[in-house]
Amino acid sequence: MPNPCRSSRIVVLTGAGVSAESGLATFRGASGLWENVRPKDLATPEAFAKRPLKVLAFYTARRRALLASAVAPNAAHIALAAFERRFRGEFLLVTQNVDDLHERAGSQKLRHMHGELLRTRCANCGHEFASTADISTADSCPACGRVGRLRPAVVWFGEMPLFMDEISAVLGRCDLFIAIGTSGQVYPAAGFVEIARRVGARTVEINIEKTTASSLFQESVRSPASNAVPIFLERIECDLLRLNG
Ligand code: OAD
Repeated sequence: MPNPCRSSRIVVLTGAGVSAESGLATFRGASGLWENVRPKDLATPEAFAKRPLKVLAFYTARRRALLASAVAPNAAHIALAAFERRFRGEFLLVTQNVDDLHERAGSQKLRHMHGELLRTRCANCGHEFASTADISTADSCPACGRVGRLRPAVVWFGEMPLFMDEISAVLGRCDLFIAIGTSGQVYPAAGFVEIARRVGARTVEINIEKTTASSLFQESVRSPASNAVPIFLERIECDLLRLNG
């Protein structure tokens, strides 16, 4: 486990791996969501235009999985929220995940750069609302009335990730960047470690295995997030307490 540091501006990036121990599937690897399908067939505006039933069914299955009673935040989500409550410096949690497990754990300074599964948007007028309901092609938009244009409020390939100005600004002044449970294969998130390095931040990857991005990080912790994240954050806190008396 790496040594703690004097961090006062921390950016954490999470990916599907942080929710794996809560029972949600990751994208890549064995039994991943992309194992037998091509992302472009399910996660693009073009796929939604051509095969809306298929695309909506994919997100319905994921929404129902997220809402299953057995799915709950794990120790990594909980440790991140607890750390944020106590930390006196600047903290931003950026997630590529569309699940709401960070919110359920109590995270506040949280940005869903790939949108949220429990929100629905009208592709016609842009109206967006919170919803746990399945989306059907027969549904009409509560704002503009158009039928068949409701879609999950997630970011698809070819669409612009959200909050990028804010995320870039905070990354550009962070002194600790931690990437948890992400394969580092999808940009722009995959490039965050390089931005952090350019500004001299300490960079740490927490993942059960080596990723294509591992060599870009100064430190790698090879352990499940539910184990590694609480330990790592506790060490940072202890160090800060010691430094600040
Ligand atoms: P991936 O499925 O690509 O990667 C998940 C990572 O989590 C892998 O590197 C695993 O080794 C790691 N992992 C699995 N279980 C873990 C655990 N218990 N603790 C720690 N690490 C663990 O998921 P993402 O990197 O999040 O985008 O994928 C990025 C984007 O690609 C997603 O947001 C999604 C996808 O296509 C869109 O749909 C636009």
